[in-house]
Amino acid sequence: MITISNITSWNIKNWFQTGGTREKCFIENPENGKLYFFKKSIEKYPSEFWSEIIASKVGRILGFNMLDYNVGILNNEVGCICESMIDQTNEELEPGIGLIKKCIPNFKVTERPIILFKDVEKSFLPYPHFIHKFIDILIFDAIIGNQDRHSENWAIIRTLDVENLKTNKIKYIRWFYKHYKKSGLQLSKLPFRNFFIKYMTETSLMNINFSPIYDSGSSLAREIPEDKILEFLENENRMVKYIKNGKSEVKWDYSKINHFELLKKNKNNYPDQIKKTVGKVIEKYNFDQIKDLIDNIDVNIGIEYHKSKLSLHRKQMIIKFIELRIKNLKEEIG
Ligand SMILES: Nc1ncnc2c1ncn2[C@@H]1O[C@H](COP(=O)(O)OP(=O)(O)OP(=O)(O)O)[C@@H](O)[C@H]1O
Ligand SMILES: [Mg+2]
Repeated sequence: MITISNITSWNIKNWFQTGGTREKCFIENPENGKLYFFKKSIEKYPSEFWSEIIASKVGRILGFNMLDYNVGILNNEVGCICESMIDQTNEELEPGIGLIKKCIPNFKVTERPIILFKDVEKSFLPYPHFIHKFIDILIFDAIIGNQDRHSENWAIIRTLDVENLKTNKIKYIRWFYKHYKKSGLQLSKLPFRNFFIKYMTETSLMNINFSPIYDSGSSLAREIPEDKILEFLENENRMVKYIKNGKSEVKWDYSKINHFELLKKNKNNYPDQIKKTVGKVIEKYNFDQIKDLIDNIDVNIGIEYHKSKLSLHRKQMIIKFIELRIKNLKEEIG
């Protein structure tokens, strides 16, 4: 279920620019020409890449649409790796912030913009079912205690519908040209080509899908240092309190609230979706399966990388946190 790839001899594509805060690169596997994304943990939280991998595997087991993360080793450093979510030739990833900016007047773009749930809701108005996918992400984040679902950590994928464009190109160009001329835009120096591309996006020439869930590594209590783990393991109340204190990055009325509180706030507006997904999670959750997955997640990592393995206590803590969070979901939301 988990793969380990030594990617040291692969081709780093340095020219890819990404947002984000940890060392990372796009890298091509010369054997199959496929593009991958590799990232390390941030120094402060060395087990973080494991949180990404475990979150991805647990999410899959529980029925979420996850990007698959595995172990990658680049120049003797261990991190996580995933396939590119997009085909660079005809697809683009548009992060949440891009959608929000377009539909919230005077939206303030800062390094850490304030994202309210209702802004996300508005940004999905052109895509009727996407809010349900977002609700699913919030449920998943409650299960892993994700603290970093900012608006670049969810996205839509636009795919150019080349067949449709080819078949109807002349028709579309004529139609767009008529509107271009009518709008007087040629006077404002917006070339027709740019006009065509801009508005083409907003027509059915693009297939638009919600991306799989990615960047979930700021989770599973990865910030608890090794020397504090035992204190949590020996005191369940402390773990319960920690879960209660955990907050979602998606805000409600300008304040950060607990993951489960956020789901409760949305229960009246999206009862069917929440019921459906929580029901599915409860049905699929099996303590032994998750324990087995986490206990064995790093067993095939070579001895030379033993420093990058997870401690037994950390594994126990992650297993326990997931168990307690699923219990919360059942009791408070289900
Ligand atoms: N598999 C992928 N396919 C395509 N683009 C990707 C992929 N993985 C990451 N990206 C792009 O790179 C960006 C950074 O990746 P990611 O969010 O995983 O890194 P990060 O450093 O954890 O970010 P953050 O600042 O949120 O902590 C993403 O927002 C996305 O635009
Ligand atoms: Mg990110």
